[in-house]
Amino acid sequence: MFRIENITAGYGDITVLHGISLEIQKGEIVSLVGANAAGKSTLLRAISGLIPIDEGAIWFEDERIEQLDIKDRVAKGLIQIPEGRELFPGMSVQDNLLMGAFSKEHRKKANKNMEKVYELFPRLKERYKQMAGSLSGGEQQMVAIGRGLMSDPKLLMLDEPSLGLAPIVVQQMIQIIKKISEDMGTTIFLVEQNVNHALKLAKRGYVMENGNIVMSGSGQELLNNEHIKKAYLGI
Ligand SMILES: Nc1ncnc2c1ncn2[C@@H]1O[C@H](COP(=O)(O)OP(=O)(O)OP(=O)(O)O)[C@@H](O)[C@H]1O
Ligand SMILES: [Mg+2]
Repeated sequence: MFRIENITAGYGDITVLHGISLEIQKGEIVSLVGANAAGKSTLLRAISGLIPIDEGAIWFEDERIEQLDIKDRVAKGLIQIPEGRELFPGMSVQDNLLMGAFSKEHRKKANKNMEKVYELFPRLKERYKQMAGSLSGGEQQMVAIGRGLMSDPKLLMLDEPSLGLAPIVVQQMIQIIKKISEDMGTTIFLVEQNVNHALKLAKRGYVMENGNIVMSGSGQELLNNEHIKKAYLGI
């Protein structure tokens, strides 16, 4: 469904990603884990089209997309939920959600999709008029995910949704991601520093270090790996 081959990318003269390859099958939850500055967010930016790639190819549903602009990738169903949520704090929950309906087609079905979001996140329905900036961290993350769902993602890429959340809220977030995968059939690419949660949830995972994929396998295989245990789980 989705495949990247040997992509190289970075910022100006600085290369951050040194030939990354990975693939995601339809319906899978795949996690990408790695330490600070490994290049995880840079990879998501390259996939979304926020930064160009220098080399390599990005395939989405049998089509090469690395030359398409961001809008066209979104229209195809490639949606990123950015690290740090990036909401409009002075706008209501509802208006933030509406910002996720980019295309004409999605603006037309915005009400229907908003109902789906409210079904998934009843808390947001209760607070639809509240300014996003006054929501709790967990609620803000719900808005960020909900905004992404407004464009009917086929591949939903989440950049550290658990960042800054209390353990119990992280658990809720994990359940929500599971639910999106199971109930909506959305394929999910999850980027996390929370290695334990991310690998438990995922069918498969990749480990990134210094802009390279250094390991891949089933979530369970990776959790049992000695290097992962030492470097990421502190066991
Ligand atoms: N806009 C930018 N301009 C220049 N360098 C950048 C920019 N954004 C990120 N970098 C650099 O790229 C490298 C990878 O950063 P990136 O944000 O992709 O890491 P990450 O794995 O997402 O880390 P974290 O877990 O802390 O979010 C870092 O060395 C960072 O300083
Ligand atoms: Mg990051």
